[in-house]
Amino acid sequence: MTADPRPRYAHLTGWGRYAPAGVLTNADLERMVDTSDEWIVSRTGIRERRVAAAHETTASMAAVAALRAIAVAGIQPEDVDLILLATLTPDYWMPATAALVKEAIGNTKATAMDLAAACSGFVYGYATAQAYITSGMAKHVLVIGAELLTRFLDYTDRNTCILFGDGAGAVILSASDEPGGGLGIELTTEPQGAYMIWLPSGGSKSPPSPATIARGEHFIRMEGKETYRFATRTLATTALAAIEHAGLKPDDISLIIPHQANIRIIEAVAKGLDLSMDRMFVNVDRYGNTSAASIPIALAEAANSGRIKVGDRIVIVAFGAGFTSGAVAIQWTADPVRGVLGEAISPDSVHVRPPVDWDSVDPIPDALAEILARPGRVPLDLSDVVPGEPEPAAHPALR
Ligand code: ACO
Repeated sequence: MTADPRPRYAHLTGWGRYAPAGVLTNADLERMVDTSDEWIVSRTGIRERRVAAAHETTASMAAVAALRAIAVAGIQPEDVDLILLATLTPDYWMPATAALVKEAIGNTKATAMDLAAACSGFVYGYATAQAYITSGMAKHVLVIGAELLTRFLDYTDRNTCILFGDGAGAVILSASDEPGGGLGIELTTEPQGAYMIWLPSGGSKSPPSPATIARGEHFIRMEGKETYRFATRTLATTALAAIEHAGLKPDDISLIIPHQANIRIIEAVAKGLDLSMDRMFVNVDRYGNTSAASIPIALAEAANSGRIKVGDRIVIVAFGAGFTSGAVAIQWTADPVRGVLGEAISPDSVHVRPPVDWDSVDPIPDALAEILARPGRVPLDLSDVVPGEPEPAAHPALR
C-alpha cells in the first residue's frame, strides 16, 4: 500500500447482503423454550430470524455479500485494497476470516483483517475504512459485517436464544475528490459494561475444554436489562454526536439505520432524536439481531427498496458488547438503482477453500437441528430472499 497524501472523501459506492434461506420462527422457539410469539413480538419486535445451513460459514456468507457490493460499486474484486471484516463469530480463531473472504472473492492484493467490536463492529469498520481512504492509504475498501450467531446460542436459555440470527452485509467505500460520503463520525467504548454481554470460554482466560463445555461457557451470556439500559441511554446521543460532527441537525437526516436489536430500542432512538418512526429503518422483525451484520443488511435493503435517494443524508448507528457504540452521518451519492447489479451474484458461484485433511463436526446445535428437521413447521413467505440464494429445501437441516 503506498501513501497518497491527497485529501479525499470516502463515498459509499457499493452495497450487498446475504441472508441464509433457513428460517427459525417464534413458533419454532415456542417448542424449544418457555416463551411465546406474543412475548417475543411485544418485547423485541422479532418474528423470525435466519439460520445458516451446515455448509455455510461466516466467511461464505461474507463473500457473497462482498461480491454483491463489489458488483454494485462497478469495480473488480482486484480493485479492493483493504478488507475489514467485523464479526464476533469468525470461522476460526485464526486465520482471520477476512483472509478467507479475500481468497473467495478472487482478490490478490488487499490487506485483510478482522475487527472485533461486537454489534458496533460494522460502524467501527466503516470509520476505519474512511480513515484509510482520507489518509490516502486506500482507494477502495470493502467493509463487511458477517455473523453466524445461531451456533453460539444456548437453546435452553430463553433470555438469549430468541434474539439472534445469521447473515452478512457489505459495503464498498471509494476515494473521491468530490464532497460526499461519511461527514461525521462518533465512536465510544465503555468497558464497565464488559461482562454484560459476553462469551466466557474459548479465549486464553478459559480455553475450551470438556469442563467449560459442560458449564455451557461456550454460549453467549447477557444481562438483558443492563444492555437495554445502555442501548437506550447511548444510541440517540451517539447518533446526535455524529450528526453534529457533520454540521447537521437531526431533522436534516432522512433515514436512520439503527442496529436491529429490539424495536423498543429503535423507538427510543427516534424519541431521543425527536424524529418519527418513519425515518427509522426497521427489519428486526425478519432477521432478529445479526450483530455486526445488522446495519449493512439493513442498509442494502433500504437502498434497494427505494428508501434512499442521491443527496440524502443518512445515519448508521449501533451499540454492542464492550459496551461499544458508534455512528456515522453519511451523504449518499450512489444511484440506488445500481443495487440490482448485486443480484447477479449467485451464492452457488462463491466458494471458500476448506482446510486440507480436516472437516468440522456437524456445526448445527442439536436442539436447533432437531426443531428445524421437525415436520409440520409453519410455511413461510421467503419472497424477500435475494434471487439466486438457495431454496429453503436445500437447507440440510430442513430435509
Ligand atoms: N419468553 C418469555 N419470558 C421471558 C423471555 C422469553 N424469551 N425472556 C425473559 N423472559 C421473562 C424474564 O424471565 C422475566 O421474568 P420474571 O419477571 O419472572 O423474572 C420477564 O420475562 C421480564 O424480563 P425482562 O428481562 O425484564 O424483559 P425485558 O422487557 O427487559 O426484555 C430483552 C428482555 C428483550 C432481552 C431486553 O432486555 C433487551 O432487548 N435487551 C437488550 C438485548 C440486546 O440488544 N442484546 C444485544 C446486544 S448487542 C451485541 O453486542 C451482541
